[in-house]
Amino acid sequence: MNNFWTTLNSPFFALAPMEDVTDVAFREMFARHSHSNPVFFTEFVSVDGIVYSKSNDREKLFSKLLFTKKQRPIVAQVFGAKPNNFIKALNEIKSFGFDGVDINMGCPDRSVERQGAGAALIKTPDIAKEIITNSRSFLGEDMPLSVKTRIGYNAPQIEEWIGLLLSLNLDALTIHLRTRKEMSLVPAHWEFGQEILKMRNKISPKTKIILNGDIISLKDGENKCLNTGADGVMTGRGVFGNPSFFAQYEEDNRSVEEKINQLIEHIKLFDKFLFSKGYKGFYVMKKHFKAYINGWNGAKELRIALMETTSPESAIKILKEVLKEK
Ligand SMILES: Cc1cc2nc3c(=O)[nH]c(=O)nc-3n(C[C@H](O)[C@H](O)[C@H](O)COP(=O)(O)O)c2cc1C
Repeated sequence: MNNFWTTLNSPFFALAPMEDVTDVAFREMFARHSHSNPVFFTEFVSVDGIVYSKSNDREKLFSKLLFTKKQRPIVAQVFGAKPNNFIKALNEIKSFGFDGVDINMGCPDRSVERQGAGAALIKTPDIAKEIITNSRSFLGEDMPLSVKTRIGYNAPQIEEWIGLLLSLNLDALTIHLRTRKEMSLVPAHWEFGQEILKMRNKISPKTKIILNGDIISLKDGENKCLNTGADGVMTGRGVFGNPSFFAQYEEDNRSVEEKINQLIEHIKLFDKFLFSKGYKGFYVMKKHFKAYINGWNGAKELRIALMETTSPESAIKILKEVLKEK
């Protein structure tokens, strides 16, 4: 198997999967502005959706799995609760050229949990196990398999839950260091890191461990990796509005002009890959405005003007006018 996880030098970074955030356009920004690429994850995609969706819906759904050749390594993230549908969905995904497949077992979203998927699988370990073992044997030597989860459901369940996952021959395991109940409302429990790594060394030394939660810079991530012994760390909200995150060690030292130029570039990519094709509405792009446009006099007024726009062209026009005044 061409297992990219075994080729990464520690400490490595991964860009967290985030629905309606880490789409093909967003990831392209990081591929263009990083010194070395993080491991990329797609937004999560429903295996039931892949199996049951028809024509137009299908194209929209599959737009979540678009990627470019700059975006490597890239892992497709899926969610679901029906072991058989994983096999059918993976059978389709297998031919898309991904470097790996990741199963979401941590999402607290109600619509996901209602299907028994995401974090709900922490409460049904037998189904989680069946999904992983079936997917593992289906993928065989073709593609590495990983899981992304949390430390427990209502309370930390390191031994039972993380211990179970470590017994299932995964190539990598990402652990968001919070319980489902905690959502993202409390600081991540980095104090569990060393215990998790000790378990990994005992149960499954070849499984790469990626820890996740609240990382704010490369320096912060590197320290957390070294302190816990993790192979890598994953960062999500810390990268909002900053495609140069993986090119800066500590401080965000981009000028106002650079931030505005990056936002223009991001809007253009969003238009090219997603908006112009009808895959995503402009409101999805607008979620990024606040993260790019802040930290200087006049940023608030610019944000307000941008939030009133309804198309890539109108937003870019405003941003170019601001640049002319600088
Ligand atoms: C807007 C948003 C969307 C997310 N979507 C996903 C997702 O599709 N799959 C997933 O595994 N986690 C998802 N997450 C969780 C993140 O991957 C990550 O685990 C979490 O934000 C904690 O990391 P952070 O503190 O660095 O942000 C999402 C988080 C946010 C904020």
